[in-house]
Amino acid sequence: MTLKDKVAIVTGSGRGIGKAIARKLSSLGAAVVVADIRFEEAEKTASILKGEGGKALAVGTDIADRSQVEDMVRQTLSAFGKVDILVNNAGWDKIEPFTKNTPDDWDRVIAINLRGPIFCTRAVLDHMIERKYGKIVFIGSDAGRVGSSGEAVYSACKGGVIAFMKTLARENARYQINVNCVCPGATDTPLLAEITGGETGKKIIDAMVNAVPLRRLAKPEDIAPAVAFLASDEAGFITGQTLSVSGGLTMC
Ligand SMILES: NC(=O)c1ccc[n+]([C@@H]2O[C@H](COP(=O)([O-])OP(=O)(O)OC[C@H]3O[C@@H](n4cnc5c(N)ncnc54)[C@H](O)[C@@H]3O)[C@@H](O)[C@H]2O)c1
Repeated sequence: MTLKDKVAIVTGSGRGIGKAIARKLSSLGAAVVVADIRFEEAEKTASILKGEGGKALAVGTDIADRSQVEDMVRQTLSAFGKVDILVNNAGWDKIEPFTKNTPDDWDRVIAINLRGPIFCTRAVLDHMIERKYGKIVFIGSDAGRVGSSGEAVYSACKGGVIAFMKTLARENARYQINVNCVCPGATDTPLLAEITGGETGKKIIDAMVNAVPLRRLAKPEDIAPAVAFLASDEAGFITGQTLSVSGGLTMC
């Protein structure tokens, strides 16, 4: 499998799953735009990729802000001349029952997990249509396929992302643009550590692991190869699909 001469944008690749995806795409030959709201983290990832012999550009971008997203795509085009691959990875969540969420929480979760991927996709699509080439991979969640207690609005966003992805796949197949979604289960990342702190958090993690047939949390490196495959030409006849990478947590 190769991504030689491809240009990829990976949102939220300053840390966690996105960072592992950025490293994987880079190791396969893609130039990678590391777009993250935490610019310093984005710079760290970009310098790792460059240290490993890759081409990378760090861009500070809040995907919930459409003008910043458009600027990030402009910077990509000016640095690398094209966009072949978009990985809509950046996301955020807070675990608590729906009745405890505030409207501000709903807005933040929707802005990052649903509006952000819509903005990023819209910002690259005309260019991909014009070139009749593109690979868009969403990072969903098993929460969006089967629900997840404590993640009501997040699950709604991830379910929305899956439906959005399928419609984009139908609308853009004529332009040879493949659109797919990878759904991680619980994955050992800084986000998971932040939202499952303390003694209750440990119980949540134990319960998550017990629900996984392969009996462990995913590592970010477990998710990245599936994304790389769907972003590659070897998956050229796959579109509109949702692939869970969750140790068998969901089998649907
Ligand atoms: N960790 C899990 O258990 C898990 C499970 C299922 C799905 N996911 C999904 O995987 C993706 C990555 O999650 P993670 O666990 O690696 O999270 P993480 O918080 O460890 O990393 C996410 C990165 O996204 C960046 N980010 C957050 N908001 C942003 C914004 N508005 N604009 C740009 N960048 C932003 C953060 O700065 C961070 O670098 C998310 O879409 C998440 O919903 C995670």
